[in-house]
Amino acid sequence: MTKTVYLQRHGAIAVLLIANPPVNALSAEVIAGLAAALDAFEADRSYAAFLVHCEGRTFVAGGDITTFDDPKFSTSLYNRTLARLEALDRPVAAVLHGSVLGGGMELALSCHYRVATPRTQFGMPEVKLGILPGSLGTQRLPRLIGVALALDLIASGRMIDSGAALKAGIVDEVTEGVPLDVGLDFAKVLIAGLAEPRRISAQKVSPDSVPADFFTQALDDAARRKAFYPSARNIVLAVQASMLPFAEGEAIEARLFEELRVSPESKAMRHLFFAERQAAKIPGLKKDVLLRTIASVGIVGAGTMGGGIAMNFANAGIPTVLIETSQAALDRGLGLVRSNYEASAAKGRLTSAEVEQRMALLRGSLDDTALADCDLVIEAVFENMDLKRQVCARLGKVCKPGAIIATNTSTLDVDVLAEATGRPADVVGMHFFSPANVMRLLEVVRGAKTSPDVLATVMQVAHKIGKVAVVSGVCYGFIGNRMAEVYMREAEFLMMEGARPAEIDGAVEGLGMAMGPCRMLDMAGIDVGAKTVIEYGKAGGLPPDDSYRAVVQKLFELGRFGQKTGAGYYAYDGRKPVADPETVRISQALAAAHGIEQRSDIGKQEIIERLLYPLINEGAKILEEGIAYRPGDIDIVWTAGYGFPDHQGGPLWMADRIGLTAIAERLSHYAKVRGNPFGYWTVSPLLTSLAQSDLRLSDWQAS
Ligand SMILES: NC(=O)c1ccc[n+]([C@@H]2O[C@H](COP(=O)([O-])OP(=O)(O)OC[C@H]3O[C@@H](n4cnc5c(N)ncnc54)[C@H](O)[C@@H]3O)[C@@H](O)[C@H]2O)c1
Repeated sequence: MTKTVYLQRHGAIAVLLIANPPVNALSAEVIAGLAAALDAFEADRSYAAFLVHCEGRTFVAGGDITTFDDPKFSTSLYNRTLARLEALDRPVAAVLHGSVLGGGMELALSCHYRVATPRTQFGMPEVKLGILPGSLGTQRLPRLIGVALALDLIASGRMIDSGAALKAGIVDEVTEGVPLDVGLDFAKVLIAGLAEPRRISAQKVSPDSVPADFFTQALDDAARRKAFYPSARNIVLAVQASMLPFAEGEAIEARLFEELRVSPESKAMRHLFFAERQAAKIPGLKKDVLLRTIASVGIVGAGTMGGGIAMNFANAGIPTVLIETSQAALDRGLGLVRSNYEASAAKGRLTSAEVEQRMALLRGSLDDTALADCDLVIEAVFENMDLKRQVCARLGKVCKPGAIIATNTSTLDVDVLAEATGRPADVVGMHFFSPANVMRLLEVVRGAKTSPDVLATVMQVAHKIGKVAVVSGVCYGFIGNRMAEVYMREAEFLMMEGARPAEIDGAVEGLGMAMGPCRMLDMAGIDVGAKTVIEYGKAGGLPPDDSYRAVVQKLFELGRFGQKTGAGYYAYDGRKPVADPETVRISQALAAAHGIEQRSDIGKQEIIERLLYPLINEGAKILEEGIAYRPGDIDIVWTAGYGFPDHQGGPLWMADRIGLTAIAERLSHYAKVRGNPFGYWTVSPLLTSLAQSDLRLSDWQAS
């Protein structure tokens, strides 16, 4: 065999052992090993059954997608090998444990019989990479469990557990035990019972199993709800092809798969998949850095953020104490956490026992000495420098030596807060996004003196609580909000020039953005946004431009705080934004006051360019200044934290597709037509030099 695949004899059972840590991913070597094992098995008539088993913590948990960009990539060799496996004339079984995903599911479906251990997870997550299962998953799964459930699983990419897999008929049996023993016992029973090979490809899908318009409906649904994702349509078509003879379905699946593999959407989504894994790596960090143990957490401030942050730790089973200034604030904070959990329980996502378990991990205190034993303390008090400095000074004294002190500030200087503690090496920023229990993004802010083990520990903690963490250096707004600032700036200038909020939002939502800038700020709170601008002005950070973010400041002055007060950029009918003539009047008045000419010819393309090109330009500055380690980190921040469409791969990936020369030219164009007294349109040196050398942002690496 090969180094990663062995054939072992266990009496009359040939055990194919795959040992390709960490997740037994399919690779060319695994496939070659499988083919060699099939040769050996076919030649040896003393074997009565073939058992597929994986060493380590999981069955095959997916394919090796690093080879997808290879122009010569093809699934055909694997598919032919799976066909040989299925065609064996003696029973073929698989014992499944850990995660049976993607290519692993397709391997399992090529076997005649399947047994799983409890707590095994099953899924076909290819859709999350913009593709479909390309090794006959779309043909075998519907034959096994019916088209409706197969389409649901393949189109959603969701996972199911052993119990659900047994009920669906994906596995024949669920048995507790050591996987190899479970598999051997299962195979022995097959041999004793003279079980015949049972090939899924020979089964038929009954056309009556679903309503006549099932696939038309599914295609409509894909077009309506997943318009940006060609995979949604192709998955429906591939599953529909399972109604045809197997060989025809196979050819259709291959064609639909190939269309997706080379699609820009899948390339963008694959870029994000790799970028996310890359983001966890800290350049220059020594391999032997000793991580600190985080077994208990403290949070100062049980407001909007504090409560949400606490839920992350309770969900991960880590005891957490919340500190407040009054019993009322504490009760309100913990009460909100409980009602969030209860809402999840009402939707069936948690049992009531789980709600109680999580609540039992949370306790409140008015006495901050309760933080003395905590390994990690996160402050989430009001965004006010004096207050935060005081809180940090106190934390420097109360927290035990070796404890990590983190701040959730959105805008304040982490280095100043670090100094305030008197132990800056222990300090780091942990910038959660709202709602903190839902949003996946965490910006981990590396201060000038943050020690490497603190940074590495926080990255590991982030992973443990299910966040995607990106390291940012210290600057105003870190990576995400700093880029959002130029985006909001242009949204407001466009309004003052005559564009309506719905036109502005519509232009970027048309690209797949979850929410345009006006809807986003209405939801986050105009008051929060305006205060940030005002504070930054006081700190001397704003350009000397009276019209800068004039709209948000005016709306704030008028008490239009957004969705929560029923009016902001839009008026609100419940949670539904409706156009409001009042904001048009406000913008017109501001334009007149600041000498901004109103126009009626602002088109969609101008809106897109003016919102996104400065944002991309700011991203390039962030790279140049060493605030972000890599372009992919910025793409992760925007896709995981700001609703930037994953099928566009993030702003910098998108920039490379548009072309940096074109972007630089348009920035210069706007500098001419809008004037550039405050440098808003000055092309960053990095963007200029990459464009001149015909390079891409994704080619950029820190020197
Ligand atoms: N709301 C957001 O969208 C968001 C997003 C990311 C980061 N942040 C940051 O998170 C922090 C908290 O914001 P928030 O929205 O949760 O504010 P909030 O007003 O909802 O909560 C702040 C809480 O801190 C408490 N508090 C104040 N002083 C305290 C002290 N000395 N000791 C203990 N508790 C004290 C208050 O009673 C209040 O409950 C800010 O730094 C903010 O910039 C907010």
